[in-house]
Amino acid sequence: MTSRARRASRGTLPVPRRVLVVGGGGREHALAWCLAREAGVAEVVVAPGSAGIASVGGVRAVPVDPLDPEAVLAVARTAAVDLVVIGPEAPLGAGVADRLRADGLPVVGPGAAAARIETSKAFCHEVAAAAGVRMARARAFGGGEEDAARAFVRALDAAGRGIVLKADGLAAGKGVVVCDDLASALALVPSFLHGRPPGPPALVVEERLAGPEASVIALCDGTRAAALPAARDHKRLGDGDRGPNTGGMGAYSPLPDLSDAAAAAIVGTVHLPILAELARRGTPYRGFLYAGLMLTADGPALLECNARLGDPEAQVILPRVAAPLAPLLLAAALGRLPDDAPRVLPATADAAVGIVLAAAGYPGDPRRGDPIGGLAAAAADALVFHAGTAPRAGGGYETNGGRVLAVVGRGPDLGRARARAEAAADAIAWEGLQRRRDIARDVMGAGGAGDVALGARAPAAPVGGAPA
Ligand code: AMP
Ligand code: GLY
Repeated sequence: MTSRARRASRGTLPVPRRVLVVGGGGREHALAWCLAREAGVAEVVVAPGSAGIASVGGVRAVPVDPLDPEAVLAVARTAAVDLVVIGPEAPLGAGVADRLRADGLPVVGPGAAAARIETSKAFCHEVAAAAGVRMARARAFGGGEEDAARAFVRALDAAGRGIVLKADGLAAGKGVVVCDDLASALALVPSFLHGRPPGPPALVVEERLAGPEASVIALCDGTRAAALPAARDHKRLGDGDRGPNTGGMGAYSPLPDLSDAAAAAIVGTVHLPILAELARRGTPYRGFLYAGLMLTADGPALLECNARLGDPEAQVILPRVAAPLAPLLLAAALGRLPDDAPRVLPATADAAVGIVLAAAGYPGDPRRGDPIGGLAAAAADALVFHAGTAPRAGGGYETNGGRVLAVVGRGPDLGRARARAEAAADAIAWEGLQRRRDIARDVMGAGGAGDVALGARAPAAPVGGAPA
């Protein structure tokens, strides 16, 4: 740990005693688990959470509609929380952060205006261009602009570029088509624009970039940013990155191909300029700013921004943060991250690999109500985060969502973390369970031993009990 980081973690920042986490998926389970273990945090309230999340000691679930700002405010006031952390994008877009802030509560999560950086890909491109942040070449089109969109598709193709079509607006990671060829791109254009009103962007046509991807998520206080450990998501449903895009089927951290110095440089060239541009527009950004990057041969390029922690990235990142998170979250929410906070927060020396277990039918309409077997066996040697489960009458849990669980294995290197995650995932079963078997396989050593050197970092944080 650097001396600066040590100062930041020495307890000079106030610690919130009671924290409200809004949301109820795997990311929120990881947040609640992480915060409930921290010194000085007396209670974590999760709204609405789930029975699985509330099985963590010190965590209480309160049923509420997370998209109803007044209802969330009432929960925050009744529970007398000192800090609110908003997990998913939908409450941000619904103005929950705005409402809570107007009532004087410290909130991690941007207001609806700044959250458009995620909800509108066209807005993200516009802000990035104004901030001088490199993204793929792109143009946005509204209803009635099929011809213009096809002309831009042809122009990209003529320039030797592949084509990516993206729906403008929230699509839970599923509104993106990476096109195989010009003909399929041209054929798909109308499906994005048909029936859409002229004016507001409905389709973003982008040049296709190549390279490994990385998620660099920074905690931001309006002007300052401190990155969490970097992670890599696996967005396609099937092994070998085949099949449809999903919200994310697994993740790992750290990244052998992205050093802390490179991540710190990304904070300087991506996060900080975006924060400055949003502040200049009068919509300062306080919350997690997620940069989805492609590490191209010409350097990192921003693919997308999210206004929150990634899911399942959070499940592998949060266990690796080697500084008390609760005081940093409160400082960010108050606009008071320390001036000397490191651009990349200290991380444990271990690695984490997370595998998502999804229900039959995902990423389409998932089947619910399948009894889940093997949870206790899996939790013996891995973290098990609940994403879409419901308790069963006679005990145990059943599937209740698309992504059902994320199991996270930890170990001294990615190979051993991966082996633990695989063993835990193997222990769990239900009818129609879908998962990938190649999470983090891309960075295994030549012999598959996973002996990728991680470099010396801070000593590992104590490993608590499994969260479920
Ligand atoms: P997004 O929701 O924008 O992150 O896109 C989802 C996934 O589509 C990304 O994680 C990439 O794998 C892929 N993708 C998005 N934009 C591009 C691009 N410009 N070039 C190549 N792949 C892309
Ligand atoms: N895992 C990607 C996301 O949360 O958007």
